[in-house]
Amino acid sequence: MGRGARKVAVIGAGNVGATCAFMLAERKVGEIVLLDIYEGFAKGKALDMSQGGQILNYDGKITGTMDYADIAGADVVVVTSGFPRQPGMSREDLIGKNADIISQVGAGIRDHAPNAIIVMVTNPLDLMTYHMRAVTGFPAERVVGQAGILDSARMTHFIAQEVGCSNEDVQAMVLGGHGDTMVPLPRYTTVGGIPITQIMDADTIDAICERTASGGGEIVKLLERGSAFYAPGAAAAIMAESILNDRKRMLPCSAYLSGQYGLEDVYIGVPVILGRNGVESIVELELEDSELSSLQKSAAFYKTQLSDILDY
Ligand code: NAI
Ligand code: 2OP
Repeated sequence: MGRGARKVAVIGAGNVGATCAFMLAERKVGEIVLLDIYEGFAKGKALDMSQGGQILNYDGKITGTMDYADIAGADVVVVTSGFPRQPGMSREDLIGKNADIISQVGAGIRDHAPNAIIVMVTNPLDLMTYHMRAVTGFPAERVVGQAGILDSARMTHFIAQEVGCSNEDVQAMVLGGHGDTMVPLPRYTTVGGIPITQIMDADTIDAICERTASGGGEIVKLLERGSAFYAPGAAAAIMAESILNDRKRMLPCSAYLSGQYGLEDVYIGVPVILGRNGVESIVELELEDSELSSLQKSAAFYKTQLSDILDY
């Protein structure tokens, strides 16, 4: 990544994309380009965000476009374009429609921002991240998916509510796919450094893990149209910022595995170090047999979907 002014493109100026762009503006990461198939939608949101600069104390260029030429030179591209879930739908119900969108968006990124690092958000997340890597032909470390930060943050919030403490004092770890097979890890989840297994009973922990796994669906049901976007947009922004500022945050993300955790040729949520080169390393936690088997089951589910539905 060049050392000059930084640039981030956000594809899809909808709920998640706009929230992500707004958070990035507040964090003063550099130039922001919002791209959408609806040009006025992207331009209008960019202008609105630009006008918030005086109120929230940020400067910098924020523009909207439908032209991929405008993402040239982007260091990071966050991809949020695609259909969200409606009540009654699983994330996997979105595969066909969103795969077509990712094929189109991936070609645009490949042709106009060939050195970018891609942060995927579009659902079904782990499958669309795999598809994006295939479409662009980018090396695996430059295509990474957002899910684990959101899923862990949901778990964190439920624990903080139960314990009656600040969200900030809870650290949670959720691995696996962004769907029903996700793998919350209570043994690696702490409040003020104390594992929750020491301060909460097993039934409470199980209930929190279940609510975490269905956390997205809970919000879809409440909203009645569309899906969550504040926490998802923020999670994607944190990933982009860690890459743009080379912060090397250790975050659970959907990463391409090539032997880690006994898994190959699949994108799945694991802890990674995110820096200027994208996924700089994949962290292999010591897992108990049941934890490892849950992660492997989750990966097996996505591998089947990749071959049966997306023909990989
Ligand atoms: P939205 O409907 O508000 O925004 C999607 C935007 O994508 C729209 O503005 C639409 O015009 C644009 N778009 C559609 N096709 C496009 C194309 N070919 N090129 C450029 N832009 C295009 O949806 P929302 O709520 O922002 O969700 C976006 C995606 O993110 C969905 O697939 C949703 O399921 C997913 N999501 C993933 C999460 C995660 O944790 N990975 C969390 C929340 C949402
Ligand atoms: C979520 O978990 C829909 O994937 C989205 O909120």
